[in-house]
Amino acid sequence: MTDRYAVIGNPISHSKSPLIHALFATQTGQDISYEAIAAPLDGFAATIEQLRNEGYRGCNVTVPFKFEAFNCATELTERARAAQAVNTLSFEGDKIIGDNTDGAGLVRDIEQNLGVKLQGKRILLMGAGGASYGVVLPLLTAGGTITIANRTASKAVEMAMKFADSAIRGGSYEDLAEQQFDIIINATSAGLTDSEIPLPSSPLSAKGGKGGIFAPGALAYDMMYGRETPFMAFARAHGAQVADGLGMLVEQAAEAFFIWRGVRPDTSPVMERLREVA
Ligand code: ATR
Repeated sequence: MTDRYAVIGNPISHSKSPLIHALFATQTGQDISYEAIAAPLDGFAATIEQLRNEGYRGCNVTVPFKFEAFNCATELTERARAAQAVNTLSFEGDKIIGDNTDGAGLVRDIEQNLGVKLQGKRILLMGAGGASYGVVLPLLTAGGTITIANRTASKAVEMAMKFADSAIRGGSYEDLAEQQFDIIINATSAGLTDSEIPLPSSPLSAKGGKGGIFAPGALAYDMMYGRETPFMAFARAHGAQVADGLGMLVEQAAEAFFIWRGVRPDTSPVMERLREVA
């Protein structure tokens, strides 16, 4: 019998997850179905209940329900607890197991696909909202030191304190003026409105180098995909290697697929296909 899965969000029609999981299923020979379901804004828990009653095996969860998914799980993985959000639910008997694969997806995209190791790297994580929380623990586990910068600096400071690890600190964009990073990750929503992030633009003359906050050979990673954000343009102008979030999208899906099916799909043909249709 075909095992059923879905992604739940609102809105959801734009989601690429059904295509990604269909490609994974074909590639690995897994007999699954995967559809997109729009839950009413006040009806997430009821939708989960319905799916469980209908025998679904699990679901992915996206905006704006990741926190509700966190609350409705009966068991949480460590990385879901750290993220305070859940994007993958598994229904096993009476249990609803909540996980978060976003950070693992980001780490895998950076390390495997882009070939940049995180161990010992100076990472700047921009933003202190849900997208940022979702990736901190896997980045720390991969061995990076993390500076969180946020427009509202107090939120970055609070976030760093929550992780209580000497390899993480938080502050404002102004605090970055004299610093350089190997990996700069945009986890803000600034790109949605084409807004600039107030990064210190350290001019060549003042810093004695072209890159400003970008160390030589730095990777600039934007979690958004499908468009060039002002941050990506800024990073390019400073000589950084630039990546968008399409790889993270596919890798977080592959991690969910692995949790459910115990099989790890090959993500590269799927990424190629998505770039074609994007
Ligand atoms: P998400 O779940 O996508 O992270 P969020 O929780 O609303 O969404 O967080 C959005 C993040 O983007 C926040 O860190 C926000 O900064 P503030 O905490 O100061 O609001 C950041 N952000 C949004 N627009 C921004 C902009 N124009 N410049 C810099 N940061 C911005």
